[in-house]
Amino acid sequence: MSPRARVALVTGASRGLGAAIATALAADGAAVAVNYARDAASADAVVAAIEAAGGRAAAFRADVTDEAEVTSLHQAVVAALGEVDVLVANATGPQPEIGVESLRVDDLLTQFRFFAVSPLLLAQQVLPGMRRRGWGRIVQIGSEAFELGTPGSSAYVAAKGAQLGLTRSWARELGGTGVTVNLVAPGFVPTERHVGVPDADRDRYARGVPMGRLGTADEVAAAVTYLASDRAAFLTGQRIAVNGGNTL
Ligand SMILES: NC(=O)c1ccc[n+]([C@@H]2O[C@H](COP(=O)([O-])OP(=O)(O)OC[C@H]3O[C@@H](n4cnc5c(N)ncnc54)[C@H](O)[C@@H]3O)[C@@H](O)[C@H]2O)c1
Repeated sequence: MSPRARVALVTGASRGLGAAIATALAADGAAVAVNYARDAASADAVVAAIEAAGGRAAAFRADVTDEAEVTSLHQAVVAALGEVDVLVANATGPQPEIGVESLRVDDLLTQFRFFAVSPLLLAQQVLPGMRRRGWGRIVQIGSEAFELGTPGSSAYVAAKGAQLGLTRSWARELGGTGVTVNLVAPGFVPTERHVGVPDADRDRYARGVPMGRLGTADEVAAAVTYLASDRAAFLTGQRIAVNGGNTL
C-alpha cells in the first residue's frame, strides 16, 4: 500500500448519488476526481464542499461513454491527482420509460453505453496501474431494477444486468491481483432528477420496502466507501443491495 492518499474517480459526481459518494470518499481520506458531463457549476460546488470540509478534490468534464474522452479524462486525473486507486462507475443519462413495442435499438444501446461500455472503457484505463500497485477497487453502481425486472424500463434493466455480469466476470479474472470488483445496487433514492415524482408514488414505493422507508444517498455512499476500503479486501464479485431489503 502506497503512503500517498488514495485517488478515487467517481463518474457523474456533480449531483445525486455520485456527489454523495465523492463526498464520502473524500471524508475517508481519498483525493477525489469529480467527473461531470455538462453541469460544471454543480461539480465545482461538490469540489468546494469537499475542500471546505478539509478534503481534496478536483472537477473533470468528460462524457464517460466516449472512448477518446475517457482516455483524456484518465490522463487529466493522473496528472492532477495521481494514479487512480478507486473507480466508481456511477454516471447515468436519462432513463426514459419505453414499452417493449416502442423501444428502438438505439434506446437499448444508449443504456448499454452508460452501464456496460463506459465501465469497460474506464476499467481499461485504470487497471494497468491498479495491477502494478497490487491494489485497486472498482465499484459499479447498479440498480435493484435488474432484480425487480421493472416494467417499461427493459433497456435500463438489461444494461444494469450487463453491468452485474461484467462485475462478476472481472472479479474472477482479477481475483489474484489485489483488485476487487463489486456492485452496489440502490433502491429508489430520490435525487435532483426525481423532483417530479409525486409524493404518492414515493409513499407507495416506501410501503413495499421491508424497512418501510426510502433510502438516502449517504446510505448508498457508505456501502461504496466500505467496498473501497482495506476493510473489504476479501470481498469481490458481489452485489450489495442498499434498499431496505426490497429485493431480499
Ligand atoms: N437515484 C436512484 O433512485 C437510483 C436507484 C438505483 C440506481 N441508481 C443508479 O445510481 C447512479 C446515479 O444515479 P442518480 O440518481 O444519482 O443520477 P443523477 O441523474 O442524479 O446523476 C447523474 C450524473 O451523471 C452525470 N452524467 C450524465 N451523463 C454523463 C456522461 N455522458 N458522462 C459523465 N457524466 C454524465 C450527470 O452530470 C450527473 O452528475 C446511476 O447509475 C443510477 O442508475 C440510482
